[in-house]
Amino acid sequence: MAVTQAVLPVAGLGTRFLPLTKAVPKELLPIVDRPCLEYVVAEAVAAGITDFVFVTSRGKGALEEYFDRSPALEATLEAAGKLSLLAEVRRVASLARVVSVRQDAMRGLGHAVLCAEPALRGQDFVVILPDDIVDAAEPVVGQLLRVHAEEGGAVVALKNVPRERTNRYGICAGPMVRPDRMRIERMVEKPAPAEAPSALSIVGRYVLPTAIFDLLRSTPPGAGGEIQLTDALARLPLAHGHVFSGAHFDTGNPVGLLEAQLHYATRHPEYGEAARALCARFA
Ligand code: G1P
Repeated sequence: MAVTQAVLPVAGLGTRFLPLTKAVPKELLPIVDRPCLEYVVAEAVAAGITDFVFVTSRGKGALEEYFDRSPALEATLEAAGKLSLLAEVRRVASLARVVSVRQDAMRGLGHAVLCAEPALRGQDFVVILPDDIVDAAEPVVGQLLRVHAEEGGAVVALKNVPRERTNRYGICAGPMVRPDRMRIERMVEKPAPAEAPSALSIVGRYVLPTAIFDLLRSTPPGAGGEIQLTDALARLPLAHGHVFSGAHFDTGNPVGLLEAQLHYATRHPEYGEAARALCARFA
């Protein structure tokens, strides 16, 4: 059965962008002319996802506003004859169906995913961490869904990281059944470099079966005292890792966001030339 629902945990406080995130959700920070969040929603839509569950918290209402219709603005633009802007405003509003659920306390990624259960239809679903933006010819969600169709079970996106950074990620190990596909036997959340079973880290894209919810309910707090999705995943009978292709940016910190901004700006059909000239000027 086609996978059509995605869960986006967006309750985080964005502390690395304070004080800006006192007033603006980090997911709305711009990459050129669009908010970060639109990039991952568009990626999922391109892979056949139609329904999104945002797991939000206080102060994140603007995320839903962004993907909602705005009749008053549309009427104003129409009356002023600003038809290309009107089309752009309507395009965003028709991109995705969004519902949101609240995460009442910051108890970790596993807890955030569990909060989405009542809004899901009881079928396999995708989880997308919006900090991870990937520019790829085939959307990463689509790459994972292809593996899921072939193998079943859970699928996570994997990327090689330098050994000294394993303590920032979920790390997976197991036999490679193809050059880009691991049959996962071990998953550890944020292991110290000396204890890491490999240097293949989870990047924020998952395809999950509903069996994950019972496992999450019985998962005790792990790394950082939080309920970790990785710990529940490690107890699933079948999981594969897909070493994805594409340029990955961690936009959860200012330098990673800047890198994504430069990547997309210098390739932008309208602003690319100006952006490349600016990069040369400041090099
Ligand atoms: C989360 C996951 C981790 C994964 C990472 C990818 O960690 O727990 O397994 O490697 O996202 O971005 P966080 O970045 O929320 O600490």
